[in-house]
Amino acid sequence: MPLFTVDPDLCSRDGVCIDECPVRIIRRKDAGSPPEPVNGAESVCISCGHCVAVCSSGALVHKMMDPKDCPPVKREFRLTPEHAEHFLRARRSIRTYNAEPADREILKRIIQIASHAPSGHNRQPVSWFVIYDRGEVRQFSNQVIDWMKYMLKENPGYADSKNMDMLVRIYESGDDIILRGAPHLIIAHAPEMELEPSAPPACVIAMAYLELAAVSFGLGTCWAGYFKEAAQSWEPIKTALDLPDGQIVYGAMMIGYPKYKYHRLPLRNEPRITWSL
Ligand SMILES: Cc1cc2nc3c(=O)[nH]c(=O)nc-3n(C[C@H](O)[C@H](O)[C@H](O)COP(=O)(O)O)c2cc1C
Repeated sequence: MPLFTVDPDLCSRDGVCIDECPVRIIRRKDAGSPPEPVNGAESVCISCGHCVAVCSSGALVHKMMDPKDCPPVKREFRLTPEHAEHFLRARRSIRTYNAEPADREILKRIIQIASHAPSGHNRQPVSWFVIYDRGEVRQFSNQVIDWMKYMLKENPGYADSKNMDMLVRIYESGDDIILRGAPHLIIAHAPEMELEPSAPPACVIAMAYLELAAVSFGLGTCWAGYFKEAAQSWEPIKTALDLPDGQIVYGAMMIGYPKYKYHRLPLRNEPRITWSL
């Protein structure tokens, strides 16, 4: 099967697919002929689907993507700058959750949305691991605290820089400052950087998509930075996660229904911007 086919009766010959192909593997013999793959296109194509998505007539069918399976862009859903700003500024890190669990189907849908985040060369290296059970999430908090106690003994300089002493004390007073009593924890993992250099940013960007998508389902999230760090080095957590060989945790997010509502948009520093000209 060729990399893509073009229906000559539907194709408008506007050449937009040629202009938009990020790896320049679409050409046409002359202005009157429909586009075709260049020699060797198959090995260069990143299957990003831009050729399919930008074709206004649905003439181009990529072997990985049929326009029939690609939903149309709904112009009426376009956000105004005011809506986008409000949506982005109103998202908060949530640290107090209701006991009510989220439906697995909803979590799956949020992850599916997050899977549309950009990744280098469209390699989509992110895999997901969902710790669904609240009790299991709590056990991971315990293990992070074990890691912190170990660090306080073995690497006190580093432990001090992260206030681990204080975190352990708060945790031991009964306040889960590590995973905040969240009902669920979603982990983004990917191959180690040596094999897949785009893995860390891909996981972080997908997580950023996930935390924004969650808001629209009424769910709240919080990055689990301490957990992520512990999960990269602490053997008991690695063993408990039991990820496939060579997979590294590059992002973790607490998720659940927020107990409280926020009423204002807090302020942030003015951006530090330098213009070259
Ligand atoms: C990479 C990263 C790691 C974080 N780790 C934690 C964490 O372990 N625990 C926590 O309570 N908040 C964590 N946060 C949340 C930040 O504290 C929070 O984003 C920041 O205070 C701004 O608040 P906002 O997200 O509500 O705007 C983390 C955020 C990021 C981006």
